[in-house]
Amino acid sequence: MKNIKSCLNNEHDIVLLEEIDSTNNYAKTLARNGEKSGTVIIAKTQTAGKGRLGRSFCSPFGTGLYMSIILRPDCDIENVSLLTSCMAVAASRAIDNLYSTDVKIKWVNDLYLNGKKISGILTEGAVTSDRKSDFAILGIGVNIKSVKKHFSDDLLEIASSLEDETGKTFSVSEIAAEIINELDNLLPDFEKAEFIKEYRERSCIIGADVLVSKQGREIVAKAVGISDRAGLIVRYSDGAKETLTSGEARIKKS
Ligand code: BTN
Repeated sequence: MKNIKSCLNNEHDIVLLEEIDSTNNYAKTLARNGEKSGTVIIAKTQTAGKGRLGRSFCSPFGTGLYMSIILRPDCDIENVSLLTSCMAVAASRAIDNLYSTDVKIKWVNDLYLNGKKISGILTEGAVTSDRKSDFAILGIGVNIKSVKKHFSDDLLEIASSLEDETGKTFSVSEIAAEIINELDNLLPDFEKAEFIKEYRERSCIIGADVLVSKQGREIVAKAVGISDRAGLIVRYSDGAKETLTSGEARIKKS
């Protein structure tokens, strides 16, 4: 973990923790106390790692990258959700740059390798009284070393790690630094969402039959595209189209 700073293209304060409930929670506390944009929090393990939609993110010691970045984007809150897709592209690029992998993105916040989830992203934020973003916490978990001993059989059905999928050896620090560098490249213009072209190209959901969660029900649809603002465009069996901007679409098993 020591050499992250030496691999960074730009200056960032980095807080390294042995153990924490959630790096996103820790980052939120720092941000509320005025911590500056760009500060990075990384933990070796999380005892209560959080995923989207109230799920947990399994974070065994020394096995993955558990990282949160404090941002203070000068933008309207409508655009904060673009940060998740921006991070998805940055992290996919970072891993592919370093290890010549072919990382795919599953709308909206998951990274996949060989059909298995290897990473998840959770963006949380706070708003000012004039509906601007006060701060955003961009959290990412990447399963790096083997997770076979750590994950339940149910979890191993859908999730894996870079090492388990490729048999190669990976460096947590190198991946952390490369993700920060790629994010630094994209963030200045993230509101223009030019990265969506690459998000689409990396998508593993376009063309798939999906189950869209709506008011506690799952509705079958076809994922037909990603909108210019990172929504998932689906077509229902009656031909009606909808652009989903939140919630979940699960790829239907054939
Ligand atoms: C998901 O799979 O739905 C998102 C997972 C996000 C996990 C990361 S790990 C670092 C940061 N801290 C958390 O508690 N969650 C995010």
